[in-house]
Amino acid sequence: MRETRSDLKPLSVQKHNYRHPHVFLKLAVSCLLVGLIIRLLFTDSFSFSSVVHNPPPLANAIAHSPFVSFPPPPSYSVDFPVNQTQTSPQDAEQCDLFVGDWVPDLNGPRYNNESCRVIENHQNCMRNGRPDSGYLYWRWNPRGCELPKFSPKKFLDMMRDKSWAFIGDSISRNHVQSLLCLLSQVEEADEVYHDEEYKSRIWKFPSYNFTLSTLWSPFLLKADIFEDINGVSSSETQLHLDIVDDKWTSQYKNFDYIVIAGGKWFLKTAIYHENNTVTGCNKCQGKNSTDAGYQHAYRKALHQVFDFITHSEHKAVVFFRTTTPDHFENGEWFSGGYCNRTVPFKEEQIDVRYEDSIMRSIELEEFHRAKNASANFKLLDTTGLSLLRPDGHPGPYRQFHPLLNAKVQNDCLHWCLPGPIDSWNDILLQMLTI
Ligand SMILES: *[C@@H]1O[C@H](CO)[C@@H](O)[C@H](O)[C@H]1NC(C)=O
Ligand SMILES: *[C@@H]1O[C@H](CO)[C@@H](O)[C@H](O)[C@H]1NC(C)=O
Ligand SMILES: *[C@@H]1O[C@H](CO)[C@@H](O)[C@H](O)[C@H]1NC(C)=O
Ligand SMILES: *[C@@H]1O[C@H](CO)[C@@H](O)[C@H](O)[C@H]1NC(C)=O
Ligand SMILES: *[C@@H]1O[C@H](CO)[C@@H](O)[C@H](O)[C@H]1NC(C)=O
Ligand SMILES: *[C@@H]1O[C@H](CO)[C@@H](O)[C@H](O)[C@H]1NC(C)=O
Ligand SMILES: *[C@@H]1O[C@H](CO)[C@@H](O)[C@H](O)[C@H]1NC(C)=O
Repeated sequence: MRETRSDLKPLSVQKHNYRHPHVFLKLAVSCLLVGLIIRLLFTDSFSFSSVVHNPPPLANAIAHSPFVSFPPPPSYSVDFPVNQTQTSPQDAEQCDLFVGDWVPDLNGPRYNNESCRVIENHQNCMRNGRPDSGYLYWRWNPRGCELPKFSPKKFLDMMRDKSWAFIGDSISRNHVQSLLCLLSQVEEADEVYHDEEYKSRIWKFPSYNFTLSTLWSPFLLKADIFEDINGVSSSETQLHLDIVDDKWTSQYKNFDYIVIAGGKWFLKTAIYHENNTVTGCNKCQGKNSTDAGYQHAYRKALHQVFDFITHSEHKAVVFFRTTTPDHFENGEWFSGGYCNRTVPFKEEQIDVRYEDSIMRSIELEEFHRAKNASANFKLLDTTGLSLLRPDGHPGPYRQFHPLLNAKVQNDCLHWCLPGPIDSWNDILLQMLTI
């Protein structure tokens, strides 16, 4: 399979950005707010008020929300060309799985909030009362080949006696939960370990002797993070750019498969250390060191991580997942931004935002450098296909029946389960198969 076509075609940046046009005003405002809010940014669980409200009557909601027996698919106002061309096996080898379109899928989701018990509250959009269901009726359709739906049986058969780990931040956990839900159609997993905050967890699939882990390591590097459970930090993160996080490296040899990802935590305020010396910082005006920006740090981090992997005696199959875009509109997550779209974008309707395009280009450069040294290194380039799904986020439904007229926190970064993130697993299995 060719994994590189989409790499060669960098996602274009903000040509027709759907966001509010006053980018610079927003930038200025966000700079002012930086001290207060950055420490809260992408806190792993958006831990604001998690008060469970009594379900209020939802003005515009479907009267009976029949999610359990899936609601009828919506009618589509947009014409999507559904290309039903049959493809030969040869096409499949040539096919770039990451270049395609979202096409209507009348089959709908493969699990729901009843059949899958492990959906995290903040991503359980069905349970939390999200009224629309159209976002469940799309599938990712690579141009020029067929992407089969994830087969839990096939996956588990391949994974007998194997061990798989997802390493990264809360998006990696979002991803692993999608996988758990898909697999629960065949077998429910037993949780055999969790840390205090349920950020790192291990599950076993007893009849397959398959072990699935999620390891929380948001920087992938050694980092001293001083955030309490509410995401309020008492001090800046101390990030060691030359030391890979032993939380995952110490266990690396136990894994046969790994999905690893960096991402948005690098945008936060942090003090950078190299060789036990402070060498710079990010978003640290007023501090005593040079603001080095996150780009150097992110590149260095991925460089270290990939070096560790390629130099390790242990050979695992490693998937590196590219950055995941958010879809806050008319504000950011802290300033009233929301994401209430109910259908996917078409490719020409949206461009990746600047920060994500920078991150992805660093990711691609470092990946290709490392790929040279290790054949078992695969790119899970989900940025582009995820960018087309503004409709797949919890929004206000990160909370149980939010009071929509009140000021509620929107989550336009993580993904509803079920939701578009399930397609990441369709692709993962396909990459293992071909
Ligand atoms: C699933 O969601 C529906 C609403 O869509 C709700 O009535 C039901 O109680 C939920 N079930 C669980 C187990 O959360
Ligand atoms: C369907 O896709 C194939 C392969 O990408 C292409 O050659 C063909 O022209 C497409 N057909 C339509 C009707 O778009
Ligand atoms: C389960 O898999 C592990 C390898 O991951 C292997 O060492 C162990 O022997 C297996 N257990 C059984 C009962 O087959
Ligand atoms: C690290 O610091 C020590 C002394 O503090 C120095 O001798 C060494 O050369 C430094 N290493 C690098 C890679 O900068
Ligand atoms: C900043 O650095 C200078 C020179 O290294 C030092 O004299 C000063 O005390 C530092 N200030 C703070 C607040 O750390
Ligand atoms: C989304 O919310 C905005 C502001 O409240 C509103 O103007 C717009 O019509 C909404 N769009 C949808 C699709 O509900
Ligand atoms: C990969 O390796 C080849 C030859 O081994 C070399 O020519 C090429 O420049 C390398 N690419 C990168 C990105 O390091």
